[in-house]
Amino acid sequence: MVEAQNANRVRPADLDELAGGEGFVAIDDLHAGYGRMHILHDFSLRIARGQSLCLVGPNGAGKSTVLNAIYGFAKIFSGAITLGGRDVTTLSASAKLKAARIAYVLQGDSVFPDMTVEENLLMGGYLLEHRAQARTVAEAVLDSYPALQARRSENARVLSGGERRVLEISRALIMDPDVILIDEPSIGLEPRAIDMVFETLRDLRDERGKTLILVEQNARKGLSFADVGYVLAAGRLVKAEPGGELLDDPEMGRLFLGGRAS
Ligand SMILES: Nc1ncnc2c1ncn2[C@@H]1O[C@H](COP(=O)(O)OP(=O)(O)O)[C@@H](O)[C@H]1O
Ligand SMILES: [Mg+2]
Repeated sequence: MVEAQNANRVRPADLDELAGGEGFVAIDDLHAGYGRMHILHDFSLRIARGQSLCLVGPNGAGKSTVLNAIYGFAKIFSGAITLGGRDVTTLSASAKLKAARIAYVLQGDSVFPDMTVEENLLMGGYLLEHRAQARTVAEAVLDSYPALQARRSENARVLSGGERRVLEISRALIMDPDVILIDEPSIGLEPRAIDMVFETLRDLRDERGKTLILVEQNARKGLSFADVGYVLAAGRLVKAEPGGELLDDPEMGRLFLGGRAS
């Protein structure tokens, strides 16, 4: 168990150990926010290749801001983000997507309902130089998702909530990312759809070797899935443990009420 000591600080060395080695994605002492507002304080993260990390914590804790900072949507005041040893801290979002192979599935519905399933998928390839390239990858993606393949030519509005989420996630595959950031994949979905979404995530991690960083308000679902779980409170990392252990941690209730491990 890795827990914040005096200054609510979980040490990067402990995070290395939890990740089972040097992180493929590594964040060191990050201070980030929006405009002049600091949201994340001294935040570090480690995740090995092909593993999954789930961020949980109360509303407003800064979970989405972690994903935004990794992707280039938040302002970084200090600290460093490296991917496979390469410093990507200051790359723009599109440069990250293209060169550093990070994709971001944003929170909320981003499916275009009046476009077909196939057209929605192809939107994931807007940064590719050749449309043929996007088509080839889209075919491969459709082949592995029968529910989408069967409706490829129909407007996406016919899809169920769970299928739409799967479409959003699979759209991120068009750029063949190494790392996929996913914000609240279960939000607004009924239990069966949530299971379907997590099966999709499991496939990405276990069969395709993708490295996943997700935010989940459904802590039970997110932490039972994830290799590593982090608790964020008031912009600080207050606890980091293997996902399953964190789920069973009696202190979780207190942390979720906005308290801090100290
Ligand atoms: N684009 C933004 N501009 C300014 N402040 C923001 C923005 N996004 C989030 N915030 C603020 O940052 C804090 C953390 O938000 P967020 O990272 O979305 O938390 P969480 O995802 O844990 O609910 C909140 O106080 C929120 O109001
Ligand atoms: Mg959020």
